[in-house]
Amino acid sequence: HGLLGEVWDDEMSSNMLGSRLRKVVQNYQAMNKYGVEFSGPGGVSSRPKLSGPKLLCQIKENVEVQTLTSDLQPFSSLPWASQLPMSQLTSDLGPYRSCAVVSSAGSLRYSGLGKEIDSHDAVLRFNAAPTTDFEKDVGSKTTIRLINSQVMASDDHRFLSSSLYSSGALVAWDPAPFSADLSQWYNRTDYPIFTQYQRYRRLHPMQPFYILHPRFEWQIWQRIQDNMAEPIQRNPPSSGLLGTILMMSLCEVVHVYEFLPSRRKTELCHYYQRFYDAACTLGAYHPLLYEKNLVKRMNQGSDHDIYTHGRVTLPGFRQLNC
Ligand code: C5P
Repeated sequence: HGLLGEVWDDEMSSNMLGSRLRKVVQNYQAMNKYGVEFSGPGGVSSRPKLSGPKLLCQIKENVEVQTLTSDLQPFSSLPWASQLPMSQLTSDLGPYRSCAVVSSAGSLRYSGLGKEIDSHDAVLRFNAAPTTDFEKDVGSKTTIRLINSQVMASDDHRFLSSSLYSSGALVAWDPAPFSADLSQWYNRTDYPIFTQYQRYRRLHPMQPFYILHPRFEWQIWQRIQDNMAEPIQRNPPSSGLLGTILMMSLCEVVHVYEFLPSRRKTELCHYYQRFYDAACTLGAYHPLLYEKNLVKRMNQGSDHDIYTHGRVTLPGFRQLNC
C-alpha cells in the first residue's frame, strides 16, 4: 500500500464493508421509514459519473437551505409561531470568507488542528461535540451548531441546561417524511423537536435558533442517490453533510475536517467519547458512505491534505460559475 492508498476512495460501496456492518446497512436499505418515492439508480452503468465541478453546480441548482419562519403555514396559525425566526438563516448569517466544518470523528483526537480550525471566520460544530478540554485538537470557536432532534430530546445531553449549546447560532433538524409536508411532519416527528425548541427558546430567548425545512435534507438525499450506482439507505443524510452544504451556502471557501478520515483514522466514534464503532465513520442508518464519495468527488484540495489534516476544501456556491 502506498501512503495515499489509505485516503477515501470515491467509489466506496457497501460491498467493501465488513460482514457485520454490511448486514446492518443492507437492513436499512430494505427499510423505507420515511416513504421515499424514488426509483433509485437506473442501472449500474447507465449513469455518467459527473466531474467535481458539474456535481457542485448540480447541488447548487437543486438544493436550497431553507429554514422555518414564523409566517409559514401551518406554524403561523400555532400559538408559539412567534418563537420562530422572522427571516431565513441565510439572510441573517454570513456571508463569511472562510469556514470550518468540524466533524466529530475520533480521528480529530491528537490532531492538533485547533489553531487552524479557529483561524476561520466561522466554525460549524455538530450535536454534543464539546470544545472545552479539546481546544488543541478542535479549537474553541463555535459560530453555528447543527443539532439533531435526538440530541434535543435525550436526557443525557441536557440540551435545555448545558452550556455546551449556548455559543453561536443553533440550527436543528429532524428526519421528516420524504414528502416534506409540514403538517404531516408536525404530527409525526422522529423526536419531539418542536416541544424542545419551544422550551429552549423560553429559556434562551436571545440566542438565534433555526429549524431546517425538511425539503433541505431530502433535496440533498436525492443528489446523493442520483450520483450513486447502487441504492442508498432511504434515510436522511448525516448532520455532517447537511452542515457542509449549509456552510457552502454561507461561505466563500469551506474546509471540512475529518469527514474523510486522515492517517489518524480510527474506530473511535467521537473525539469526545470512549466508544468504538466503525459505523460512525462508515454509516449504518445514514447513507454516510455515499455522502463521503460525493464529498471526495467535490474536493478541490489534495489527497495529501486529507491524509495529513483530514481536510477537504470545497468552494462556496457563490464562487461557482455554473
Ligand atoms: O455523530 P454526530 O452526527 O454527532 O457527528 C457529526 C457528523 O460527523 C456525523 O453526522 C458525520 O457526518 C461525521 N462523523 C464522521 N465520522 C465519525 C463521527 C462523525 O464522519 N466517526
